[in-house]
Amino acid sequence: MKIKYYMYAACLFLGMNLLTACSDDDAPVTEPTDPTEKPDEGNNGNTEDIDVSNMTLKEACKDKFLVGAAITYDDVKDNPTDFWANEQEVLKKHFNALTAEGAMKWNKIQNEKGVYTFDEADAMVDFAERNGMKMIGHCLIWHTALPDWVWKNKNGGDVDKQTLLNNMRDHINKVVGRYKGRILGWDVANEVFNDDGTYRNSPYYRILGEKYLIEAYKMVKEADPDCELYYNDFQLEFTPKRKAVLRLIGQLRERGIELDAVGLQAHMWMTTPSVENYDNLFQSFKAMGMKVMITEWDLSVTSKENDIYPNGLPKDIDAKWNQRMLDFFKVFLKYDEIITRVATWGVSDSHSWKNEGCTNYPLLFDRQQNAKPCVEEMMKAALADK
Ligand code: XIL
Repeated sequence: MKIKYYMYAACLFLGMNLLTACSDDDAPVTEPTDPTEKPDEGNNGNTEDIDVSNMTLKEACKDKFLVGAAITYDDVKDNPTDFWANEQEVLKKHFNALTAEGAMKWNKIQNEKGVYTFDEADAMVDFAERNGMKMIGHCLIWHTALPDWVWKNKNGGDVDKQTLLNNMRDHINKVVGRYKGRILGWDVANEVFNDDGTYRNSPYYRILGEKYLIEAYKMVKEADPDCELYYNDFQLEFTPKRKAVLRLIGQLRERGIELDAVGLQAHMWMTTPSVENYDNLFQSFKAMGMKVMITEWDLSVTSKENDIYPNGLPKDIDAKWNQRMLDFFKVFLKYDEIITRVATWGVSDSHSWKNEGCTNYPLLFDRQQNAKPCVEEMMKAALADK
């Protein structure tokens, strides 16, 4: 136990030094942190001769990481329409990990105090088990999808500290307890920090201060000592925000709680982030001895403010999109020893949250549910990567 602690402390020290050395956003990591690190050639090897006609993504990545997707209730319902039946086939073929896009959020499970609704979440966990897939729990403590009753009193003000802690404990016990042994790990906390590394002023923070976070992890660990514990957030390529997460890892370690992985949401655009941003990100977590997961990957070409491709994606943009996905996937492969899961936030383009107010093309499968060209290339790259 003691030895483990010293190892953590050493990793923490190394990690913090690395971060202080590069405090600007997008700062390159100049020092290699691990002399045994794999050279790049594996990923750039010749993939021409690799036949992937009968290959699937999960099979190609089986020695690297889980391949996940976020799903809705339609993905797992009995007697599906043709569209959803086909989507289920795609899921079964290529993916071996599932995340509920909404069905396990607080407002879906306990929108009213003490009234729990588990139908959709249960159906997803059953589907995952029937098909030999891992189910991921998303998410317990988040400032969004949070019903008012959790933190608001009858007069419209904040509840007291003890009431909020009780509400958190009841919810966590009930939800984590229900799926004990059936869920691989939980996104215990989601999107806690602002870009500048300060705590987001959520009701949790306002009422309880920083300690709410540690308390939440303790509660989950008590409810299911064996499930994995994750922290999930977006844009950790911003150095101050990343530092805040690294600090949290240390604070949890001091209390004997080890995060199993940090989730990088990876909602991307065509110009940001850069592949180098991700390389730096992985270096930082590696130096801390921390595993990471890509949890909500999608790549947008448009937005509701700028709906520029309502009738299809021009060929050149489509080619760039595919290349960019492949480039990121290759950097995931480069760090496969610390990456435990690569998951997209949805399956096919027509059912992505990124279509809000626009026609977007963010996922690996198109509107006809066909794999986009990069999927083949990703499989080849994974198979070529020894
Ligand atoms: C999103 C869902 O995709 C939407 O359908 C919903 O309306 C809002 O939430 N970060 C997260 C996810 O952790 O839970 C969010 O999911 C997307 C951003």
